[in-house]
Amino acid sequence: MNQTFRFSRMPKLIIGPETVGGLGEIAASFGRTAVLVTGSRAMERSGHLSRILADLNGFGVKAIQCRIAGEPSPRMVDHAVTGLRHKAVDVVLAVGGGSVLDAGKAIAAMLKENGSVVDFLEGVGKRTPSGESVPVVAVPTTSGTGSEATKNAVLSRVGRGGFKKSLRHDNYVPRFAIIDPTLCVSAPPSVTAACGMDALTQLIESYVSTRSSPLTDALALDGMRHLIPALPDACGNGAADIGCRGAVAYGAFLSGVTLANAGLGVVHGVAGPMGGILPIPHGAACANLLPFAVRATVDNLTAMNTEPSNTVIEKFAQIGKLFGATHENRLDCCSHLVDCLYQWLDQLDIPRLSQFGLTAAHVDLLVHAASNKNNPWPLSDSQIGQMIQDRC
Ligand SMILES: [Fe+2]
Repeated sequence: MNQTFRFSRMPKLIIGPETVGGLGEIAASFGRTAVLVTGSRAMERSGHLSRILADLNGFGVKAIQCRIAGEPSPRMVDHAVTGLRHKAVDVVLAVGGGSVLDAGKAIAAMLKENGSVVDFLEGVGKRTPSGESVPVVAVPTTSGTGSEATKNAVLSRVGRGGFKKSLRHDNYVPRFAIIDPTLCVSAPPSVTAACGMDALTQLIESYVSTRSSPLTDALALDGMRHLIPALPDACGNGAADIGCRGAVAYGAFLSGVTLANAGLGVVHGVAGPMGGILPIPHGAACANLLPFAVRATVDNLTAMNTEPSNTVIEKFAQIGKLFGATHENRLDCCSHLVDCLYQWLDQLDIPRLSQFGLTAAHVDLLVHAASNKNNPWPLSDSQIGQMIQDRC
């Protein structure tokens, strides 16, 4: 092997049913004051919140609760940090979906900076984060963004002049990720589907990325091997099946690891700006864009017919095989993959983009804002426009 690559740090990973029971002990290892960031009231209803608070109390950890509603905005983060600034916070415990984990990571970082988080956002602010942060323990209750494994926190301001941008530093990787599939059981099918499709998109895009390495390839493939057979069940009859939920949660975690180390492609290069214009759930945006993106990328690679492009086609064919393709010809395996991705949109009941208010009038703006990121071969503006309109 003569490839040069880097691999970022990972959180200490604790994965398995009922592992959230170890949160109190882990929190206490950092100190006596924790900020507990949570999201919806589902945690309360399920009894998980009271168990976590009792556990923290049992280890002598005082929990300052902070609730985040919806996708985090810079204003939410600034507001939370202002309220916490004069408290000696030893650790931030972020227990919730991707939004909660991102909010927790941003709050932990901004407790060590002055000014608004907007000033430090990539492509928006002019300041560079110092990298200092209160330690974070990430406990996902949905399986999607992989934020428990990444070094960035995504914040968005939706509407005119809106954006969806990252606060990023290598040091923002959480110290611990506790992945307990029992926490994911209460996620409804629509959330499980959208989050799972985000994770699948991240695994696929990082696997075929121009920045992929043998190490990210191995992890992305293993993530897909677990996630692909389990996701439809997790959205249906297997919703309460801990093994099924665990497989999806493991795939989502790996999607975070691989995206952090190999980057993403054009689907995320469009889903980002899309999330700044309209309140479209990130996973739903990815799911809708993915089939067309795969087909167009494979078409472009096929037209190139070079050795490197054929290697990437082989990778897409491998993914097709994970979806059950048995064809000899790799392009047939790629077609099978695209067909399955379209079928999943129906099977998983993913709403079309138009149902979130996206219209043809948004297309030019999005094409202009889009990025091909690390897509194995760039899509043209016209292909990106078609990709967006494909599911309008
Ligand atoms: Fe994503």
